[in-house]
Amino acid sequence: MTNISTPTLDAIDRSSALSFPPGFLWGAATAAYQIEGAAAVDGRTPSIWDTFSHTPGRVVEGHTGDVACDHYHRFREDVRLMADLGLKSYRFSLSWSRIQPGGSGPVNPAGVDFYQRLVDELLAHDIVPWVTLYHWDLPQELEDAGGWPLRDTAERFAEYATVAHAALGDRVRHWTTLNEPWCSAFLGYGSGTHAPGRTEAASAVRAGHHLLLGHGLATQALRAAGGQAEVGVTVNLYPVSPQTSAPADVDAARRIDGLANRFFLDPILRGEYPADLVEDLRPVSDMAHVRDGDLATISTPLDMLGINYYSRHVVAGPDPQAPAQGYWRPPSTWPGSEKVRFVNRGLPVTDMGWEIDGAGLVEILTRVHRDYPELPLYVTENGAAFTDTVVDGRVDDPQRLAYFDEHLRAAHAAISAGVPLQGYFAWSLLDNFEWAWGYTRRFGMIHVDYDSQRRIPKASAKWYAEVIRRNGLPAQ
Ligand code: FCB
Repeated sequence: MTNISTPTLDAIDRSSALSFPPGFLWGAATAAYQIEGAAAVDGRTPSIWDTFSHTPGRVVEGHTGDVACDHYHRFREDVRLMADLGLKSYRFSLSWSRIQPGGSGPVNPAGVDFYQRLVDELLAHDIVPWVTLYHWDLPQELEDAGGWPLRDTAERFAEYATVAHAALGDRVRHWTTLNEPWCSAFLGYGSGTHAPGRTEAASAVRAGHHLLLGHGLATQALRAAGGQAEVGVTVNLYPVSPQTSAPADVDAARRIDGLANRFFLDPILRGEYPADLVEDLRPVSDMAHVRDGDLATISTPLDMLGINYYSRHVVAGPDPQAPAQGYWRPPSTWPGSEKVRFVNRGLPVTDMGWEIDGAGLVEILTRVHRDYPELPLYVTENGAAFTDTVVDGRVDDPQRLAYFDEHLRAAHAAISAGVPLQGYFAWSLLDNFEWAWGYTRRFGMIHVDYDSQRRIPKASAKWYAEVIRRNGLPAQ
């Protein structure tokens, strides 16, 4: 019995040519460990993703980021490709262990030099550099000392933010502290499907808090460093819909919305954890790690909020046939709410198995704008993995192109409804190391042949270049 109240795409103009507001920031995104390679070059030390990917059984086919797209050595070619696309901005992350090996102490001049050259190359091509300080690659030494469940890691992160700003603050204005702290906390320490691969529910909750604290401290550090830093954070948000209006399903949706969305949005934008979430988490954590003053630090005002959107969660309450028992059971992506069932609606999916749901983007953007203080919003990631084939030196990827078109139409509908959405970053510029899926999932607008490192812009890249050129979508 399905009775899902999924908003339709009716509110979204699916066929007309659409114009975006002047100055809309068109971009594409990547992350250091997914593209750079050069893992043991010029003083870089291992991060948790080096350790994890080199541990048998953790990543599909034993793939690692050792070489990835070799962007470290090919960044000039890659910036030229960005310029060919007409990108207005490029969102990338810094490798903490390349800049500050071991996660604390002295700076590595070669690491700093790489990012300075990259930024200079971007600026020379009129591409706005958009820096993410942390996209999941904690220096291994800091994990060995306790990782994100340890409070000290938040302090180390703020120190690293100061170091990064000293290196790049004269030429980088847009700073994102964290990318998707939900993944770092709950996939890294809860389900163990991401580095460091720990399966400790209480540690996942502590990690989530210390990531938030690190975000707040880093925000303050960036501001204290002076200059013109515009600071934000990127969260991955999901609309969460109950499968039916039955109370158990509605409660399941409340629980997952709490863990996936409000765990991060409420501390950052309201300075508090939601009371219902704290209650849900009681079987796994007493939240004693939250100290006086933490939430004030975490809610340091921001200049913008980055939202990564890929899909919607549709959920149902516990299976009524299952034996009654408490909720808690590791390993868990959803500590304290393990019995919630995730429902597949039978919609078309990407290669990740994620249902394609453009309406969800309108929903999440309007909700954030409605429920939290007015803040400029950016879609900092959105995109799709599909299997691509190279035919006669070309890659035709109509499904990816349609995905981008659908979601940009959704973004436009949100803007029309009054949401201050100021930019959109496609995920991803290049095919790359897709975490636990290794190189088996391709998200790029530019195809990468990992043997030859040859890059081929796909049809979606050419389409996106046209969208940027006209600051809008062509008619269908
Ligand atoms: C996001 C990550 C990004 C990429 C996409 C597909 O969760 O931020 O690195 O893996 O998913």
